[in-house]
Amino acid sequence: ALYAKVDVDTCIGCGNCEGIAPDIFDLDEEGLAYIKLDDNQGVTPIPEDQEEDLREAAEECPTSSIVLQGHPLND
Ligand code: F3S
Repeated sequence: ALYAKVDVDTCIGCGNCEGIAPDIFDLDEEGLAYIKLDDNQGVTPIPEDQEEDLREAAEECPTSSIVLQGHPLND
């Protein structure tokens, strides 16, 4: 399974991720992206049918702010 989280310290709110994968990403009131599934906690596996969009969004993020791992990201 894949787990994902947006690093809000480096996200510049460009909105690319939401454009590519609107089922996964949204922008908060500060204009920064978060994972809708678990409010950016990084602890809920991304549904398999969304993994391709997720990987593409991560690759296209201009600040490489989308963290992907094979384990939960609750550090
Ligand atoms: Fe932020 Fe990257 Fe998305 S800068 S808004 S996480 S594409």
